[in-house]
Amino acid sequence: MKSQQTFQSLIESRVTTGHFDANRAVSHEAVRQLVRLATKAPSAFNLQNWRFVAVRSSEAKELLCELAYGQAQVKEAAVTFIVCGQLDGYRDLPETLQPSVEVGAIPASLGAKWSSMVAELHQDNPQLRRDEAFRSASLAAMILMLAAQDQGLASGAMSGFDPEAVVSRFELGEQFVPVMLVTVGHPAGSRRPQKVRKPVGEILEFR
Ligand SMILES: Cc1cc2nc3c(=O)[nH]c(=O)nc-3n(C[C@H](O)[C@H](O)[C@H](O)COP(=O)(O)O)c2cc1C
Repeated sequence: MKSQQTFQSLIESRVTTGHFDANRAVSHEAVRQLVRLATKAPSAFNLQNWRFVAVRSSEAKELLCELAYGQAQVKEAAVTFIVCGQLDGYRDLPETLQPSVEVGAIPASLGAKWSSMVAELHQDNPQLRRDEAFRSASLAAMILMLAAQDQGLASGAMSGFDPEAVVSRFELGEQFVPVMLVTVGHPAGSRRPQKVRKPVGEILEFR
């Protein structure tokens, strides 16, 4: 059901949901729409260095639940996304940027400049490649969760899983790093109030 929340109330009402109604599905089309919106996230040089594995089948959910130390929400959720960062996205930046050049979003000269800059910065710097993969995937994951909330769905971010086992058992390929799992589905049980945040005065400084 489409909610009519304002963006602020959407942000203020999102909570991590630990229990989902396992009997209520989310369509493939809705999954695609969530990922399409998630990819509106910014990324350095528009690298789009992310991948999403939508875990939907009982078999794949069973495996992922095991690799997430038995956290049952992975099985209950209609879908759990393995949100991955891509470590070698710098290699094909010219092709990645070409559609933006074609629609006039960036000039071809800037695309060429970014491509050579990113190659220079990334090729001998695995730490930076990993940092950028985590930044991009995290920004995308947040949009995905807010988009789910906007669709009347609940979500939850999870880092409690074995990343190396996820890469090998889901055959992700070495160029992908699983950054977080995001569960999405219809919530079950009563909704808890949002957890309290530190006061802004404590976490913000002006300089
Ligand atoms: C990176 C990250 C990892 C998390 N890992 C888990 C997890 O493995 N299992 C879990 O139940 N919740 C997990 N959470 C949910 C947090 O506990 C939750 O976001 C936090 O307590 C704030 O609550 P809220 O999301 O309801 O506002 C994770 C959240 C984030 C952002």
